[in-house]
Amino acid sequence: MSLLSTKHLLGIKDISSQDIDLIFKTADNFKQVINRPIKKVPTLRDVTIANVFFENSTRTKISFELAEKRLSADVVNFSSSSSSVKKGETLIDTVNNILAMKVDMVVMRHPAPGAHQFLARHIDANIVNAGDGTHEHPTQALLDAYSLREKLTNLKDKKIAIVGDILHSRVALSNIYCLQKLGAKVRVCGPPTLLPKHIESLGIEASYNLKETLEWCDAANMLRIQLERQEDKYFPSLREYSLQYGVTMDVLNKLSKKIILMHPGPINRGVEITSEVADSNQSIILNQVENGVAIRMAILYLLAGSSSEE
Ligand code: CP
Repeated sequence: MSLLSTKHLLGIKDISSQDIDLIFKTADNFKQVINRPIKKVPTLRDVTIANVFFENSTRTKISFELAEKRLSADVVNFSSSSSSVKKGETLIDTVNNILAMKVDMVVMRHPAPGAHQFLARHIDANIVNAGDGTHEHPTQALLDAYSLREKLTNLKDKKIAIVGDILHSRVALSNIYCLQKLGAKVRVCGPPTLLPKHIESLGIEASYNLKETLEWCDAANMLRIQLERQEDKYFPSLREYSLQYGVTMDVLNKLSKKIILMHPGPINRGVEITSEVADSNQSIILNQVENGVAIRMAILYLLAGSSSEE
């Protein structure tokens, strides 16, 4: 079996384009599996996986749990809001207690950027980053790129825009790394206050002009305004933001070509995109969600294989 170059999936920055190709090829096989009447394979029958979530999640948590169950792994779920973290237990103590119960892999979401790198220095189990604060969300970027590749055949020289709250977004950074490794041209677009200073130093373009950016791109990934991470006011009002940076059918119909619309979820309907756009045939939002299960099955399978070869 071919292996990933890494024991953990901490971020897209740390993996190679060969790793991404291998994840995509493996996901192609698992996508066939989950579309069969019997959606389950015995591949991870002796593996126990803990989903450790210190932040809220709908899609990522359910998608990982389904991926694990489709692979026949044993699954335990931990949510910090109903745990002894509330009594002051540290991250390492929490995870070590879970591992003492013979857990092989940890899928973790944590609000602190770098929490997974810290944990990887202290525990032996494979770690998968399900989102670390404003830093990275690698499985989201992989499922986004995989979904785009299905529509555009390959991403070499394709123009992909990432629009919205780039400053607070882990999806943006992981997407930038992933799309660049696959040869795409990337542009971020949003109000000046929501684009990090010097973002062009990552080798991408930055624009404040939505309509010109949509005309430039083959696909636009529309990000949510993350009010929960914003201590200051970055724009006058959501209405003002929506007027300048929201995508409506009217905006799309004025473009010279049909572009693909993506969104990692959760959507604020009527803010970054209207319901009409989210539910239109240009949107691949539900394809992204479907592909998330196959991508996560591939990652868990490949990481489990890396451990057994050690
Ligand atoms: N896209 C994403 O990470 O969604 P959740 O926060 O619901 O997991």
